[in-house]
Amino acid sequence: MTRENLKASALAMLDMAYCPYSHFPVGAALECEDGTVYTGCNIENGAYSACICAERTAIVKAVSEGKRRFRRIAVAARTKEYCVPCGECRQVMNEFSPNMEVICMNEAGEDMTLPLSALLPHGFNLPE
Ligand code: THU
Repeated sequence: MTRENLKASALAMLDMAYCPYSHFPVGAALECEDGTVYTGCNIENGAYSACICAERTAIVKAVSEGKRRFRRIAVAARTKEYCVPCGECRQVMNEFSPNMEVICMNEAGEDMTLPLSALLPHGFNLPE
């Protein structure tokens, strides 16, 4: 998938977000190293600690289908600022692909793109 199509998929997922508490929709599109793409949105819950971010929705969909190596993820919100992943999502990305690219988007579809290692320096991984 092209970079622009991946970004468009993340933006499209904003409409799937279930966010009745925060009213803050987030969309994500994750490209695996084999080229397959998994999308995600945030899914909130009345028990707030059960909320799941868009990025982790996409990642759990991919991992549950046997994909563990990721090339890049696009993340979108309806904000003027670029939407950057929370710390928990950065750690989950780091578990699978410490060198993946993170495309942080704003509502206009512009982006700030960084390697995960810049967003999460010295990320934790258990020794093998
Ligand atoms: N959220 C995401 O889905 N991804 C992020 O990168 C930041 C935050 C969600 C969690 C919650 O549903 C809402 O945005 C407000 O924090």
